[in-house]
Amino acid sequence: MDHLVDEFCVDNFSEDALERSFARLEEMLRTEFARIKTDEDRERFRLRWVGRKTGGLTRLSAQLAGGRPELKRVSGKLFNTLKQRFQEHYHLWELNPFSPYALAREAIDITLPGTRTLLGAEHPIIRTMNEIVAVFQRMGYSVGIGPEVETDYYNFESLNFPPNHPARDTQDTLVVANQERRPLRDRLLMRTHTSPVQIRTMERQPPPVRIVIPGKVHRNDASDATHSPIFHQVEGLCVGENVTFSDLKGTLDHAMKEFFGAAVKTRFFPSFFPFTEPSADVQISCIFCGGKGCRKCKHSGWIELLGCGMVDPSVFGFVQQKQPDYDPRKISGFAFGMGVERIAMMKYGVSDIGQFYSGDMRFFKQFGSGGRLA
Ligand code: PHE
Repeated sequence: MDHLVDEFCVDNFSEDALERSFARLEEMLRTEFARIKTDEDRERFRLRWVGRKTGGLTRLSAQLAGGRPELKRVSGKLFNTLKQRFQEHYHLWELNPFSPYALAREAIDITLPGTRTLLGAEHPIIRTMNEIVAVFQRMGYSVGIGPEVETDYYNFESLNFPPNHPARDTQDTLVVANQERRPLRDRLLMRTHTSPVQIRTMERQPPPVRIVIPGKVHRNDASDATHSPIFHQVEGLCVGENVTFSDLKGTLDHAMKEFFGAAVKTRFFPSFFPFTEPSADVQISCIFCGGKGCRKCKHSGWIELLGCGMVDPSVFGFVQQKQPDYDPRKISGFAFGMGVERIAMMKYGVSDIGQFYSGDMRFFKQFGSGGRLA
């Protein structure tokens, strides 16, 4: 054991020498602690450092007691710090998650099988949204998004809903509080449709534009089996030279056939939106009865699916404040918007929209393996 005496011995001929010696001992303490693997190692570590008779620190304390009196204040302080370090390390072992102490404390039985993490599935709404977007991507459309908290200007005014116009009543929403000091156009609200992203897209790039915009929207609607105050839309916009209503019809007819199957027919009914002229509602032949008439299509053979129309020249007028190339005398375009929940409900045979937001795993598990609802 004699070599140990040397290791724990310090040079105490000066303050500097003492500090260097103690730094070396602290380094040694750390190295030895890092090597501890078992409880037995730890006990050996304890005996080696603080064992009653043979412990290094015990002997060191005796050496210092016989040292030069004028260095005792410094050596005492260094010794106490080192001893404290030892204590810290010794107890640190109990916090080591792999030490037998920790295993006993948490009562981990390593022979038990682990917790299995279930593989997630895409939410049916997101999945439907992606499928719709993919149909348009294959036709050369790019994908864009925009903010859910929108200004009055983008959600309404630039889409030709003038301030105080009754058309605004059709899309009531939540507005951010305490904005009375701002001009109306800058006031924030939860967007009621994805159409504001039409304007944002055109302001950023000159024509031609072909873009689809998936996103979440908000309306002051009471929820029932087919309505939810928060829902999703996919918006589309196509602008260029000589874009016609026939292009709109051809595009949507093709998209519906891609999405619901080649047998599906479409028809266009006159409708109204402030930002399109003319406007239309698009119906598809009932996918449940093939158009013969059933309960699902209220015996009409048709199901209404989306709104669309030719971009109103006044909308281009708003855009021209930033992009003069959108001159309604030179270019034209069409836009459309569809509700994702409605389409997902049809596609998967869901009768209550609330199921999508329920968090009920019995509902969602059915979508896990790509399966359709029975
Ligand atoms: N934004 C309209 C709505 O939410 C849908 C729409 C989009 C209609 C684009 C026409 C053109 O009701």
